[in-house]
Amino acid sequence: MKGVILAGGLGSRLFPLTKITNKHLLPVYDQPMIYYPIRTLINAGIDDIMIVTGGNSAGDFLKLLGNGKDFGLKHLNYTYQEGEGGIADALSLVEHFADDEPICVVLGDNIIERNIRQAADEYRAQGRGAKIMLKEVHDPQRFGVPELDRDKVLRIEEKPSEPKSSYAVIGIYFYDNTVFDVIKTLVPSDRGELEITDVNNHYIERGEMTWNELDGWWTDAGTFESLLRASNLVAESGANNLGLGLVG
Ligand code: DAU
Repeated sequence: MKGVILAGGLGSRLFPLTKITNKHLLPVYDQPMIYYPIRTLINAGIDDIMIVTGGNSAGDFLKLLGNGKDFGLKHLNYTYQEGEGGIADALSLVEHFADDEPICVVLGDNIIERNIRQAADEYRAQGRGAKIMLKEVHDPQRFGVPELDRDKVLRIEEKPSEPKSSYAVIGIYFYDNTVFDVIKTLVPSDRGELEITDVNNHYIERGEMTWNELDGWWTDAGTFESLLRASNLVAESGANNLGLGLVG
């Protein structure tokens, strides 16, 4: 399985912090934000990784990460997203890299305490379709929210004003190679983006979606409040002190 980190977008919710640099280069406690999703993939045994950058300072990713030697990698792949066409638009750029293999996609501003090894193993065994990860939150209206019938996801709504559950769909997704055909059928949402939630609803309609609940804390870091929370969670858990890995 290959890994993809989506680190494009303009980070407009963090203006003026992101006026001259990319959101994913900002610090989360004592490390650049992009370090955390890289570790999420490596801790799941995924070391063939593509980073999709965009917006400002894209060249700084190369300066910071090079070929990933600090993470024990031999090579890192990069590509550039023009504009801010949405998460699914950014994902469409990695079709050639994926080369028919399944992929694990991590949003560059999503930080987790523990690891996704079990979900990755279960998805490898699943062999096709998709898997999402859910986490119970106090503010589901900020996220993609699943409507659940016991263990079954019926549908996902993007940022609903009246959420149908208290779960968020976190920014870690597993897809087979049909994801690129699905993206080609999408139309932009009201916010002008190709939505990852629309991709996930396609798999749900095909009956090919599974989900796991994430262990440990999870946060995004795309608003002032969540960026501060991310730094505090990392500092308090001491997770950054364990060498290159968060809690393994
Ligand atoms: O954090 C999880 C949530 O992420 C999910 O629950 C939502 O379903 C999903 O839509 C997404 O919501 P956001 O509105 O918070 O996503 P945001 O626009 O902040 O983008 C998240 C990351 O995706 C961002 O750090 C970089 C990447 N991205 C985003 C856009 C819009 C790109 O690479 N390119 C883009 O054009």
